[in-house]
Amino acid sequence: MQRIPIIAGNWKMHKTTDEGREFAHAVRSLAPEGKVDTVICAPFTSLDVLVQELQEYPVAVGAQNMHWEESGAYTGEISPGMLTNLGVQYVIIGHSERREYFAETDETVNKKTKAAFAHKLIPIVCVGENLEQREGGKTKEWVREQVLRAVEGLSSEQAKQLIIAYEPIWAIGTGKSSSAEDAQDVISFIRSTVEDAFDAQVAAQVRIQYGGSVKPDNIATYMEQPDIDGALVGGASLTPESFLQLLEGALGGKK
Ligand code: 13P
Repeated sequence: MQRIPIIAGNWKMHKTTDEGREFAHAVRSLAPEGKVDTVICAPFTSLDVLVQELQEYPVAVGAQNMHWEESGAYTGEISPGMLTNLGVQYVIIGHSERREYFAETDETVNKKTKAAFAHKLIPIVCVGENLEQREGGKTKEWVREQVLRAVEGLSSEQAKQLIIAYEPIWAIGTGKSSSAEDAQDVISFIRSTVEDAFDAQVAAQVRIQYGGSVKPDNIATYMEQPDIDGALVGGASLTPESFLQLLEGALGGKK
């Protein structure tokens, strides 16, 4: 099963709308076409301008969160339909920063994942252990539970389109990336967890990214691994030069 690699930048709470526009202008004609799916997940305030500026180029736009309801009295929230109406195609769900600082739970992650599919948005569902869990040998148990809870109630057709990002919390923004072999080990385990939840066909199609201190100079080592289909990148996605180098590096690793 040939899976198309997917590289997604997660800008987190960075860049004004004007800075987002400048970034789009700098990368759009240089992004490689076809061999790798490319996504920029930006703050809500930059989504519209990014969709407009990138619509004829091979770079898709994603949000970093959303509510699961279609509308209602939820001050400060954004609904799935608001995103699709802008032309947004992807949405990050359950990033560890949202779980840690904004009370995101496995239950809300599941609701949001189902809502994303109901609105034809592709969810990038984040899972990953903290340092204590890693050192206590609990990584797989923890990640398995997060994956199973996230995919509850999805159809096989939906699950095939799902993107899972394995992001060990201790590797995020720390410069201490997981070794490619360790990431492969957990990601192949996540794939077998998807097989348990659905079947071998779904497991063969679901795309699983690694995230956590991915840089232009280490991305190829992850991409060389058989089960790693791409990366979710924070810091190194913030400058056009580094973002384009990530795309090049990703292609190098999957030759
Ligand atoms: P860094 O690439 O900055 O470590 O962030 C990873 C991340 O959290 C992407 O979602």
